[in-house]
Amino acid sequence: MEIKWAKNTMPKSQLNNVDCYITADDAKCAYSFHKTIPGYKITPLVKLKSLAQHFGVGEIYVKDESKRFDLNAFKITGAGFAMAKYLSISLGKDISEVTFEELKSPKTKKKTGDITFYSATDGNHGRAVAWMASKLGYKAVINMPKGSTERRRQNILNTGAQCVITEMNYDDTVRYTNNQAKENNGIVVQDTAWKGYEEIPTWIMQGYSAMALEIEEQMDYPPTHIFLQAGVGSFASAIQSYYANVYKENPPMVVIVESDQADCFYLSALANDGKARFKKGDMLTLMAGLACGEPNTISFEIIKNHSAYFASCADIVTAYGMRILGNPMGQDERIMSGESGAVTTGLLAYIMTDTKYQSFRKELKLDKNSKILLISTEGDTDPECYRDVVWRGRNQYSK
Ligand SMILES: Cc1ncc(COP(=O)(O)O)c(C=O)c1O
Repeated sequence: MEIKWAKNTMPKSQLNNVDCYITADDAKCAYSFHKTIPGYKITPLVKLKSLAQHFGVGEIYVKDESKRFDLNAFKITGAGFAMAKYLSISLGKDISEVTFEELKSPKTKKKTGDITFYSATDGNHGRAVAWMASKLGYKAVINMPKGSTERRRQNILNTGAQCVITEMNYDDTVRYTNNQAKENNGIVVQDTAWKGYEEIPTWIMQGYSAMALEIEEQMDYPPTHIFLQAGVGSFASAIQSYYANVYKENPPMVVIVESDQADCFYLSALANDGKARFKKGDMLTLMAGLACGEPNTISFEIIKNHSAYFASCADIVTAYGMRILGNPMGQDERIMSGESGAVTTGLLAYIMTDTKYQSFRKELKLDKNSKILLISTEGDTDPECYRDVVWRGRNQYSK
């Protein structure tokens, strides 16, 4: 089976403020800051009319994050906002009172002194941290897990940051980076939370949630279904939180989508006791951005409360999604979607066209009335890997 799926019947979160981490006001605040960054443009929301007809659903919208600045991925919306918020606090100001220009001014630098930002990444997040640091005149040290591609490391080095590929998996690289930052008095900007490290990841999630506001501007009505890919779950929980807060009475149905090599949310759903399960080992998957075995502790609580289903997908699912988005039907627009960006499209394709998944289709009530939102979170962040899949037909991870 390419896809395993589970209904969410986990007990609700014990955290009573679970919906307060990312509110609609947080999204507005992040959105306002993003607009001050030179080159900021709302990323396209592409309506795939022919594909929707082909699948027999009402509408399919794909938000194309390959167009996010020159970064080819959505991650700057979180890392950039969190770094800005950190600096604004150092200046004794609220984030709503500062602009990107002010943060990069020599006056700001004089007050904050030199800062080195540290982060672990499978590519996109670290690139965003390094990009923001270099634009604002600070340093960045980035570590990547074993199996990361040289091309993705080069993207980070190109910003002027230090970057190495470690011999550890993602979760161990996060721990290593945290210790390294402590030893060197640096600031960790990590896109996952753990006990005692919650503030910066919450800001990152608030930054991501501004994407939901962009979508609200681009769609005339809320989606009925949202498929959200998850590594540690920060991205998914941010988007989901926004919709759960704004459409309390009738929120869209959310499916959390993972790589089968790193399906910690799916495994937690199967265990069904409300506690997170971890995936260990190398987690070698085409979906590099989703290769995380330990959920963000805050995201886990949010996702537990508001998701309807979990899907664990083999690499072939994302390969299928990449080919579909790269080779559109009829007048549909082409979307260049990378390995972690296309898995939700591939999943939808399997669900709508493969009889094996008919029961999943029924459970999700996917039909002519469905308005489906997908977010292609990255473009061809490693062009050679992209061509391996789309041109040469690769369907699974290989070195
Ligand atoms: C392209 C892409 N999509 C999705 C994700 C998943 O985000 P999260 O780890 O917050 O679940 C990542 C994370 O690195 C990513 O790079």
